[in-house]
Amino acid sequence: MNDTLQRKADLDTPCLALDLDILDQNLRKMQALTQRAGKHLRPHAKTHKCSTLARRQMEAGAIGICTAKVSEAEALCRAGIANILITGPVVTKQKIARLVALRAKAPALMVVVDHPGPIDLLSTALGDQGLTMDVLLDVDVGLHRTGVPPSIAINLADHILDHSNLRLRGIQAYAGQMQHVRSYNERKNGSHQCLQPAIGIFRALQAKAPTCTVFSASGTGTSDIDLDIPELTELQAGSYVCMDAEYLAIGSAEDNSRFTAFGPALRLLTTVVSVNQDGYVTVDAGLKALYRDGAVPQIINPEYAGLRYDWFGDEYGRITGSGSVGMPPLGTVLELVTSHCDPTINLFDRYYVTQGSKIVDTWSIDLRGCSQ
Ligand SMILES: Cc1ncc(COP(=O)(O)O)c(C=O)c1O
Repeated sequence: MNDTLQRKADLDTPCLALDLDILDQNLRKMQALTQRAGKHLRPHAKTHKCSTLARRQMEAGAIGICTAKVSEAEALCRAGIANILITGPVVTKQKIARLVALRAKAPALMVVVDHPGPIDLLSTALGDQGLTMDVLLDVDVGLHRTGVPPSIAINLADHILDHSNLRLRGIQAYAGQMQHVRSYNERKNGSHQCLQPAIGIFRALQAKAPTCTVFSASGTGTSDIDLDIPELTELQAGSYVCMDAEYLAIGSAEDNSRFTAFGPALRLLTTVVSVNQDGYVTVDAGLKALYRDGAVPQIINPEYAGLRYDWFGDEYGRITGSGSVGMPPLGTVLELVTSHCDPTINLFDRYYVTQGSKIVDTWSIDLRGCSQ
């Protein structure tokens, strides 16, 4: 570690910091929650985009890692993590060729499928290399983004079973539309309801094929809720590691006005760079540093907690006051909980890992830009 970079206060902003104590608490909590319920955790790396963090999740007890894209899986594999589930469909010939090349290096690699055409292409490409591969049937449980409609899911499963080099391992059923429902009870009822068709499909597939042992689902917002489902075998949660303002604002079982299970490990550090206006100051984090999606970023410095951040163009943000809280002077570094962690992380090259006011490590965001 560079000797000149030992304190948070020395960092050039805007930059991303990870509070190691909160991060490890989040890792331990999700791991304990799933283990207590007799389930597995396969966290999603689309959130943190960092092989060092993925390794930490594996060391904490995760059985594998999810990626959204082939290029993320390639990067994880280069970093020595081979037990990967790709949760998005891979449909073109050239991308399937990359997938098969990766499978040759990583026998435990799994991918989801939701259409007969790519299933045929994958089987042919694997056959050319003399390989087999594990697949999950992606079932659409109401997000209507990817996944086979439940009504034709068994037909598609039969199509997979017709290919001897594809091993049907089970299903994926990600209810993204439920994750940020504010009311805990509505989220609970909604998630259980929309996963019902997937439960029926999973049971039917288990009766058809003994290899069907995986029911992979859920995100941070419904993690505790979905663990009640006996058929579910593993959680795919991602955001719980870092957390963001959007998630912190949803209700939980204990408190319907905030999400109490996981803490804000991820912080965006930004400096006050201009104080020449009445009523607001300008900071150096704008659209290029803080993705505009989800909720309003939250300032967490205790002395400035009542102030509000708003975007002020590509490079800047505006901090406005509220009542008695004084404006931060020029040069002040503010710590913000990001609006939506995943796309904000994808804007940076590294995390500064902190404990209290000290920087204890830097971790490369090495899956950054892996969107293919
Ligand atoms: C397929 C899939 N699984 C799991 C997740 C993780 O969800 P979360 O970040 O809400 O925990 C996502 C996030 O978008 C996803 O797309």
